[in-house]
Order: sequence, then structure tokens, then C-alpha cells
Amino acid sequence: MTRPLILPAVLALATSVYGQCGSGTPDATVTGEDGSYAATVGSDEVYSGADYYAAITTALDGISSGQRLSVIASGSIGTGIISIDSGIIFEGCGTIDVEYNAGHGAIESLNTEGAQIPYLTLTGSPYFGMRFYGVTGLSLGEITMNLSDGLGIRFERDEAANADVLMDIISVTGAGSHAVETWNIDGLTINQVIARDVGECGLLLQTTTNAQVGTVDGDNVATGTGYATFRMANTNGLLPDGSYTTNVFVENVISRGGGRGIFCVSESGGVEIGNIDLADNGNNAILIENCYGVSILGGTVDGGGDVRLAARDEFENNRDISISLEVSGTSVVESPCGENISWDISGDAALNVC
Ligand SMILES: *[C@@H]1O[C@H](CO)[C@@H](O)[C@H](O)[C@H]1NC(C)=O
Ligand SMILES: *[C@@H]1O[C@H](CO)[C@@H](O)[C@H](O)[C@H]1NC(C)=O
Repeated sequence: MTRPLILPAVLALATSVYGQCGSGTPDATVTGEDGSYAATVGSDEVYSGADYYAAITTALDGISSGQRLSVIASGSIGTGIISIDSGIIFEGCGTIDVEYNAGHGAIESLNTEGAQIPYLTLTGSPYFGMRFYGVTGLSLGEITMNLSDGLGIRFERDEAANADVLMDIISVTGAGSHAVETWNIDGLTINQVIARDVGECGLLLQTTTNAQVGTVDGDNVATGTGYATFRMANTNGLLPDGSYTTNVFVENVISRGGGRGIFCVSESGGVEIGNIDLADNGNNAILIENCYGVSILGGTVDGGGDVRLAARDEFENNRDISISLEVSGTSVVESPCGENISWDISGDAALNVC
């Protein structure tokens, strides 16, 4: 009954194609250290000086689609924006420190095809660590953000839509907002999102269809808020034909502490979650509110807030929900009664369902 996921095959690509960061013969490099950077394209040195951001942008200006820039050096780009064009392969092998630039990402790729960022390590407090819209065939590899504020990865809401996006391993620590927030993606494959000490969501999917996600793993995510380690909102999973036929597949959701574990809201659904492992969530372990076509096939909820089906008046009530779980140390509540709801709950949970 579970559709086999194609993740391992697809994602093996992300790392095996590239080898280590900076390996082989990159078409361009940025090397050096604080105060002394060099950018080289082919055998030409195109920049030499103290400005890390200028070194990176000069190197990028010197390569074209299909070519790779490996930024070996670490440094700060301040409020600069690194723009990745179609077909460019950008590797951040050093640590790139970034600052707040309202409405922008430290790294952006806008209206592009086939941009690739196999490796990236960011620190600092950006507005968005990475910002995207209008991208087709974007591939993100091992992305590590150790932030002191800001939002990790954002696909914009009010801009061109996106298709065929790959993410391998996205680790975000310390974001004030979400680790990963999508809008308007048709065709999304994620291996892992690992969120630690993040203010809002670990993975937030919105108006995103045909998604395959391996693991969403949150610890201390959304503490004191209604956000969740894994949240689906704003008609996520609604297909163009108006149906909620299952098209969002998630293998594992793990959540410890924080706010909610899993939250489906505002006419989202079309989702099957294979296995969950939630413990000690400070808000509802699971809240499903005005969602259609949600299946959780198995796993455990250990303590924390309740597992709850609820509804707001502004949208149709929950329907076509199937939950099989072991729930202990908290309760399971369905209020109001949904339509075509099926519960298979083991464990010591108090049940207050229809
Ligand atoms: C993350 O950043 C904090 C301070 O900004 C630092 O103490 C910590 O060692 C960093 N962790 C990693 C894994 O880089
Ligand atoms: C009831 O919900 C399940 C999913 O939990 C779905 O597979 C099934 O088609 C629904 N039944 C009807 C009659 O819509």
C-alpha cells in the first residue's frame, strides 16, 4: 500500500556526481583568507584583494552555464547577494558569513534552469539564507546553515512558480523563522531536512505538489508557537484538477520538544506520511485542521500535546483522514467529527474520537 519511494536512487546523484567540495578541476575558484583573496577562472587570476564578495562575484561573472565555481576560502559577504544563473554550479567549500538584507537571500537563483549548489555552509543572520523563484531543475546538495537569526531557504509566494527541485541534506540551526519554506513547487524531492533550535517550522510546504520527502527531523523547533517541525499549509497538495489524490509522500517525521510536531492546515492534504516519531512536543503533537486526504501509516507519539483533528469555520471540515499510531502519555481528540476519518490507535492514550 505504500508507494515505494524513489529517493535513494535520485539522491545518490546529488553527492556521487560531484565528489568532495572543490574536488577535481573546478572551472573557477576563490581561495585565500581574511584580507587576501584571489579569484581564478581557468588559468587567469581575475581578482586579487581583500574583498571576499568581489572575489566571488568576479569569478561568477567569468563562468557560464555548465561550469563550476568552488569557493574554497571562508569569509564574509556582508549584505551582498550571490546570484546563481542557469546551469551554474556553485560550491561553497569554506564558510560564508552573511548579514541581513531585507527581502533578499544571501544566495539567490531567480528565474533560472538547472542551477546547482552541491555544497554550502552559511553562518550569520540573513533575511533569507537562500531565496528562489521561477526555478526549474534546481539542485541543492549538502547545505548547512548555522544561523543566529533569519530564515534558511525560502521559495517565494508572489513570484513565478518552480518545478523539479532537488534537495539532498539541508541542516539548519538557529534560524529565527523557518528552516525551509516552499511556495509554488511542482515536483520536489528532499532527502533530509534537519532543523535544530529553529524559531518557526523545520519544513513548511505550501502550494507544493508531487513531493517526495525522506526525513524531516526537528529538535526544539517552533517552541512557544503554533508552527511545527513539519507543516503543510495554504492548499498544499491540492492538484490542478481540484483533487487531493495522494501526491506528497513523506517517509519519516521526527520531532522532539518545540511547538507542534506535525501540522496540516488551510485546505492542505494529498499526503501520506510513512512513519513518525514525536516526543514531548509543547503544542499539539499532531494538528490536522481543514485538511483532505491525510494518511499517517505508523509510528509513535510519546507525551507532549495531544493528537487532534479540529476545524475552523472558514474552510470545509476535515475528510479522508487515516491515522495508525501508538500514542502514549497524551490524548487523541477529534472535534468536530470529520468525514471519513479512520483511527487505529494503540498505546495508553485517552481517546475522544467520533
Ligand atoms: C554554530 O555557531 C555558533 C555561534 O554562532 C558556534 O558556537 C557553534 O560552534 C557553531 N556550530 C557549528 C556546528 O558550526
Ligand atoms: C476515505 O479516506 C481514505 C483515506 O483515509 C480514502 O482512501 C478513501 O477513498 C475515502 N473514502 C471515500 C468514500 O472517499
